[in-house]
Amino acid sequence: MEVQEAILERRARRMLNSGRRIRENEVLSLVEAAMLAPSCFNNQPWRITFVSEEGMLSKLKTALSKGNEWATAAPLILVVASKQEDDCVIKDREYFLFDCGLAIGQLVLRATELGMIAHPIAGYDPEKAREVSGIPEEYTVITLVICAYPGEDDALLSEKQKQAEKERPPRKPRGETFFRDRWGSPL
Ligand SMILES: Cc1cc2nc3c(=O)[nH]c(=O)nc-3n(C[C@H](O)[C@H](O)[C@H](O)COP(=O)(O)O)c2cc1C
Repeated sequence: MEVQEAILERRARRMLNSGRRIRENEVLSLVEAAMLAPSCFNNQPWRITFVSEEGMLSKLKTALSKGNEWATAAPLILVVASKQEDDCVIKDREYFLFDCGLAIGQLVLRATELGMIAHPIAGYDPEKAREVSGIPEEYTVITLVICAYPGEDDALLSEKQKQAEKERPPRKPRGETFFRDRWGSPL
């Protein structure tokens, strides 16, 4: 799959196949995709815990927000954590969150290429997620990434989520967020 194809194919899908496990070689391929991401001074500030063991996974799922019930069907959830001290801080610019985003961006595209869903979420209780997966206090739990093969059952989705499954949520007009030569001049 070309990178452009993966970019176009990727969606934050929510209909998951709960019965299909993600194999170890696929996990390692996701790891490679994230590991090779660029980072400031090659600091690699990401700490990513792959949770798939049944007991641990069930406990982690209790951290999901109500609107993320669809994610309870996932066979694999990643807990992404980092801390400011593990990456560049240049005056008021802190790069740890940025670099984690780059790594997860690559991982998500590789998952797409493998035919999988890798869907980052912010809707969870970070303290519960921290406790369940043993993330040290000084780390920020930045996101969970819900991983699964696509499924066919929409029973866990809200009406809005069912709609989003069919159609990609619209983007802002290009000129609002991309500028040419000078801030505010639409590209
Ligand atoms: C940081 C982040 C947090 C998100 N949190 C949630 C979430 O809690 N629940 C959810 O269903 N989707 C979540 N999403 C998915 C977005 O809603 C989705 O990416 C956006 O609507 C655009 O849709 P698309 O990815 O299919 O193009 C999140 C995405 C990101 C990047």
